[in-house]
Amino acid sequence: MRPLPKFFIDQMKLEYLDQIMTIEQVCFPTAWPRQVFEMELKSPRSFTRVSKLGDMVVGYVVAWTVYDEGHILNIAVLPEFRRMGIGEDLMTDCLDYFSRSHAKYALLEVRTSNIGAIKLYEKLGFKSIGIRRGYYNDTGEDAIVMMLTIK
Ligand SMILES: CC(C)(COP(=O)(O)OP(=O)(O)OC[C@H]1O[C@@H](n2cnc3c(N)ncnc32)[C@H](O)[C@@H]1OP(=O)(O)O)[C@@H](O)C(=O)NCCC(=O)NCCS
Repeated sequence: MRPLPKFFIDQMKLEYLDQIMTIEQVCFPTAWPRQVFEMELKSPRSFTRVSKLGDMVVGYVVAWTVYDEGHILNIAVLPEFRRMGIGEDLMTDCLDYFSRSHAKYALLEVRTSNIGAIKLYEKLGFKSIGIRRGYYNDTGEDAIVMMLTIK
């Protein structure tokens, strides 16, 4: 039997941004501009991590903590590496960080059509707490707001 690939989590770095921009463009109808990642890398309130396989970035997460809230802003995994636990690992790492930062709850928005992401968040214990109508400017789609109480 072939050994499973070894993914590991690393700090996001400027040198990863070319790879991250490629993933971002594949994963979202409207990609974050590179400058947004650059700003997040400089911001003291940002939590930015990548999942790597050797030198290759296969996924990433970007989040903030503000007072007692942790907010997940962006998470993506390259399509060919999905359903291998990478998204769950990145989220778990992020939730551990929220817990260490004394956040009391985690919040995120997700497109109503994004069943895979919704299932991931539900697996981690997030619950839907509301809808933001027309939240996504590109498609006009609603966002489901999901929350997890941090223990
Ligand atoms: C959402 C996303 C990050 C999930 O990443 P992933 O690495 O494939 O997720 P994981 O392999 O860690 O999945 C963990 C669990 O989430 C659930 N899940 C993930 N993707 C799913 C899918 N497409 N359908 C159903 N359940 C899914 C499952 O419960 C899964 O556990 P299992 O494989 O043991 O059944 C990935 O699909 C992605 O990058 N999507 C495009 C970008 C995006 O939509 N980001 C979220 C914006 S809010």
